[in-house]
Amino acid sequence: MAIRFSSEFAKNITDNTIRAAVLETVTALAGACKQISHICARGPLEQGLGAETGGANTDGDAQKALDVRSDEIITKALETAPVAYYASEEQDDIVTLAASKPLALASDPLDGSSNIDTNVSIGTIFSMFEAKDNAADSFLRPGSEQICGGFFVYGPQTTLVITAGAGTDTYVLDPDSGDFELALAAMKIMPVSTEYAINASNHHHWGAPIRAYIEDCLLGVAGPLAAKYNMRWVGSLVADANRILSRGGMFMYPGDDRDGYGDGRLRLLYEASPVAFVIEQAGGAATDGTRRILDIPLGTLHQRVPLVFGSKEPVQTLGDYYKKQDIL
Ligand code: F6P
Ligand code: MN
Repeated sequence: MAIRFSSEFAKNITDNTIRAAVLETVTALAGACKQISHICARGPLEQGLGAETGGANTDGDAQKALDVRSDEIITKALETAPVAYYASEEQDDIVTLAASKPLALASDPLDGSSNIDTNVSIGTIFSMFEAKDNAADSFLRPGSEQICGGFFVYGPQTTLVITAGAGTDTYVLDPDSGDFELALAAMKIMPVSTEYAINASNHHHWGAPIRAYIEDCLLGVAGPLAAKYNMRWVGSLVADANRILSRGGMFMYPGDDRDGYGDGRLRLLYEASPVAFVIEQAGGAATDGTRRILDIPLGTLHQRVPLVFGSKEPVQTLGDYYKKQDIL
């Protein structure tokens, strides 16, 4: 299995050893994700991919069989890659693979678990850093220190959306060659859009700013935002992010007043940060409502964060609602 990397992909990684390590690790990860994609394509023929294992991940979400299998496949692939430390949504603690190696990798091995048995796109998200002297310091840092980040989508096509700080590209797994081919180079997110993604069933749990914004969207052309809005919600972060990259829009998973949802649902290290990295590199914006996601320091490994990202203009407009919070 090969990835035919764009000549621009790693041009901002100046250290030759690190650049080679990133290319090797992305290739190892792509090999693992090709295996996961094959399992997804077989779906119900594989028996019980969406079955609960009886375990729970660090956030208390029920673990499904495919969550665990994906984590095992990725762990195995990383054992021979230049990765010192692995942090996974499916494991409480950081796994030390070989402390002397140069990289640290964080992953949500199977994003969109609730869609496993529905034949709807799911994926794998990852974030890469240069390793530090110890496991914790390698991850407890802001997302702006990522050297590479992105996600795989297991959908009608298996794709890899990735950045190493020199733009965002999409590679497609060609079912004929079995290799990842560059399909969309230097992607650009439309700066303006009237399409948004939010789980609106949580409306009565939201705080004032997000509630006011969505209510104004629902008023359409007669409301203060003076536009007819459209809504899409796949329920797999990777699929919603991929749609926004291709045709614009805004994704929102705000904090709400349900138990444990004060900072929303998504995890900063291996969901929000890599998505924010590819979105910003494509000219979009990613915030927690007001703060840039990539500037938020990570305090604990599995920390959640409210997440808003997509086309620049609506992210800015929603930010204005958050700033007016005290007068709403
Ligand atoms: O990984 C968490 C996740 O499954 C995301 O992929 C998705 O965006 C979100 O949760 C869906 O949350 P909810 O089920 O609350 O709509
Ligand atoms: Mn996820």
